[in-house]
Amino acid sequence: MDMKLMFQEAASFQTPLLVVFAVDIAIGKDADPLIALLTTSDAVANAAAAIIASDEFKGALGEQAVLHGPNGLKAERLLIVGLGKAKTLSVDDIRKAAGAAVRWAKPRGMRQVTIAFPEDHALSDEHLDDLPSALLSRALVEGAGLAEQDWDTYKSDRKDRSIETLIVVVPEGEESTTREIQLGFEEGRIVAEAQNFARSLVNEPGNVLTPTELGRRAAAMCAEKGLKCEVYSTAKLEELKMGAFAAVAKGSAQPPALIVMTYEPKLEKGKVLSQDAPVLGLVGKGITFDTGGISLKSADGMEKMKYDMAGAAAMIGAMHAISQFKPSVKVIGIVCSAENMPSGTAYKPGDVVTAMSGKTIEILNTDAEGRLVLADGLHYAKTLGCTHLINAATLTGACVVALGMINAGLFSNDEDTFERFSRATRVSGEKFWRLPCTDDYKDQIKSQIADIMNTGGSRWGGAISAAMFLREFAEDTPWIHLDIAGCAWNEEVKPWHPKGPSGVAVRSIIEWVRTFSTTS
Ligand code: BES
Ligand code: ZN
Ligand code: ZN
Repeated sequence: MDMKLMFQEAASFQTPLLVVFAVDIAIGKDADPLIALLTTSDAVANAAAAIIASDEFKGALGEQAVLHGPNGLKAERLLIVGLGKAKTLSVDDIRKAAGAAVRWAKPRGMRQVTIAFPEDHALSDEHLDDLPSALLSRALVEGAGLAEQDWDTYKSDRKDRSIETLIVVVPEGEESTTREIQLGFEEGRIVAEAQNFARSLVNEPGNVLTPTELGRRAAAMCAEKGLKCEVYSTAKLEELKMGAFAAVAKGSAQPPALIVMTYEPKLEKGKVLSQDAPVLGLVGKGITFDTGGISLKSADGMEKMKYDMAGAAAMIGAMHAISQFKPSVKVIGIVCSAENMPSGTAYKPGDVVTAMSGKTIEILNTDAEGRLVLADGLHYAKTLGCTHLINAATLTGACVVALGMINAGLFSNDEDTFERFSRATRVSGEKFWRLPCTDDYKDQIKSQIADIMNTGGSRWGGAISAAMFLREFAEDTPWIHLDIAGCAWNEEVKPWHPKGPSGVAVRSIIEWVRTFSTTS
């Protein structure tokens, strides 16, 4: 989808579909909705006056109403999209409403969509707190870009319903605001593209996206974006003594892939990165299919386990964006990819394996494989010089039990790093909820015969046991662990997205990386 930003009046713009946003400014919980449009265009307001005056349109988030041949406008149709209550309006609502507009237009075969930039100053301050223009613009583009994706590449009767051009129209205004809107627009485009790339990887079935194929796709992306990429397999795992990662890979006929993507900032001539400059390690769980191994999962819903590489996809997606934001910080993306299979060569419950760090691990359950591949990934990142670590993984069902599908789990061993990440989520709009991984929980992973074991001693606090396990490998290096098991796949259709891969964590990781940069 081609995206353009144009500074001109919405009313005089010729388009098949003009989109305008509406909020409910009524105060009080039980008050009848009172609809106001986020536009300063009198012509648009007049065209929509009758439906706004009726009580047919309530302005709920994602609600849509369409007018054909709207009076006084050049547009063939006017689509009004609700943003919900004005008082609680957030940038994330804009992201969703922009998505709802695109998803309304797409199945109706519209090739061009024009969105009137949400002018929050159209309302007085008593109704709406000012939202930063750059963020509004960015969220608008992200929402539209994400909503354009459908997961129909494997349908033979696939109809091409893509929207070719998205135009955002903004009335001419102050120069500083204009610049901010432009900046946000460019950022949104980069982020949406990266997140969609991650989602497209997650969408691929396990027979297509093997570890080797994931390596190929990461390498192709890196080649296109000017990042260094190395893809290793079994021999390298042996050389590095990655006993935990290798154990998981053993049961499959598909060889594992250790993918290392490196972004080096280009500094001004004569400048070098200082010795104590941070190096960020982005480590992703890339299980391209998780059968559970010898501790085989039940058949019910097992097909979902093709998305057990969503953490890896998030890191590859983040590197995609980082190559364009060009922050002044070195970033290394590490993906540990394998297929978890039961077979005559598979690792077994009771086995003891030695991780790259030297720690010994007793295997209690071969379905707790994610933490094993990440253990070696995290340690390896440290040996490459990473000073700060972040990992993302569809790690535990227990995290889904704890938090459901709205918030992903977040764990950290460092307050500053946690704070930084929280700040990043305010920009990304993604929801993470912190859970503990303090020493109090150490006993949960104590093994009788090895240093640690790969599951908790009991069922309770399973997401925490997994985090405690990973913490053993991050050790004192500031670290964030994101358990995205419940959020990586959208199980429900919403006005702004279909069922399928969500691309969760990509936006927050990009933003977290950017907080370390002095240039972008
Ligand atoms: N990939 C799964 C976790 C998962 C569950 C992801 C649901 C997405 C949705 C992981 O490898 C796993 O199987 N974890 C086990 C750990 C247990 C054996 C300690 C689990 O959560 O049941
Ligand atoms: Zn598993
Ligand atoms: Zn898994």
